[in-house]
Amino acid sequence: AEEVRVKREKGYVNIGGFTFPKRYEELKDQFDNLEVHEEDVWICSFPKTGTTWTQEMVWMIVNNLDFEEGQVNLGHRSPFLELSVIFDYRDMLKNNASFNPPPFLEDSIGFVKSQKSPVCVKTHFPYHLLPKEIQNGSKKPKMIYVARDPKDTCISYFHHSKLLECFRGDFNEFCELFLAGKVNFGPYWKHVLPYWDKRNSPDLLFLKFEDMKKDLPKVIRQVAEFLERPLSEEQVEILTKHLSFESMKQNPAVNYELVCNLNKQFNLTEGGGAFMRSGTVGGYKGMMSEEMIQRFDDWIEENLKGTDYVI
Ligand code: A3P
Repeated sequence: AEEVRVKREKGYVNIGGFTFPKRYEELKDQFDNLEVHEEDVWICSFPKTGTTWTQEMVWMIVNNLDFEEGQVNLGHRSPFLELSVIFDYRDMLKNNASFNPPPFLEDSIGFVKSQKSPVCVKTHFPYHLLPKEIQNGSKKPKMIYVARDPKDTCISYFHHSKLLECFRGDFNEFCELFLAGKVNFGPYWKHVLPYWDKRNSPDLLFLKFEDMKKDLPKVIRQVAEFLERPLSEEQVEILTKHLSFESMKQNPAVNYELVCNLNKQFNLTEGGGAFMRSGTVGGYKGMMSEEMIQRFDDWIEENLKGTDYVI
């Protein structure tokens, strides 16, 4: 397990100015050349910004609130395209040769390809590393991007990295990595702003975690309209309840129990904590020093110069 831990800690590469686990190099061509289906929906985000929340919302809307099928693990229902990059199941085999990975983990690209449209694809890829067919405009699936205050995102990512990616440093070290763009899929602004630039495109809907917290029914209606699958007010109400933090925290299909247990089982992390952690806005205030908040605010101001992005 120690060998795997060290590999996971050190094995990063820089591609197109973004930080990735080394395995991305091996699979990049497959992502670039993926055949895209216009009936699919792409849920794109920087990690820890409300991706799972958005995926569950989108999947439910696309599947006409099928709560029975909705009990299937979200990893099957809304596959994470580059999961094989983030979570190399071969690491597991080193610790237990008889480990039988779920198909969406063993070969996440193959799994996405094997699914019948409409697939609700999850990806953390920055816009410029999406499949060529999306970038050159030859395929235009509907895309939903979700963003979140980077200070809350950073805290959530810190806990996530402890829970699932065996990060060993303290919170301040993690903040430094985050600001320097040295966390997976970073730098943050280079990720958010190219999607923000496309927010008026008819194929892209830009959401914010904070708006989902403020008025979830409104966002549900907006997403349903964007997906051309309007819901009755009763359905909006039912879905709002289903998507509450309390309900999702209890829901084993979306709360990442499966992945957390695998990590614990293979002794890959120190464990502790839950994927559905606090689900709040402004939680950074209780955790970041005044000095670090100032560093973030300066960094935000500098990166947002000349843009109309508001956190
Ligand atoms: P916290 O760690 O701040 O609690 P992602 O899915 O992109 O990894 O994002 C995970 C973050 O979204 C976590 O944030 C998690 O608690 C939060 N989240 C997930 N479902 C939520 C919900 N229904 N309501 C509020 N927050 C939610």
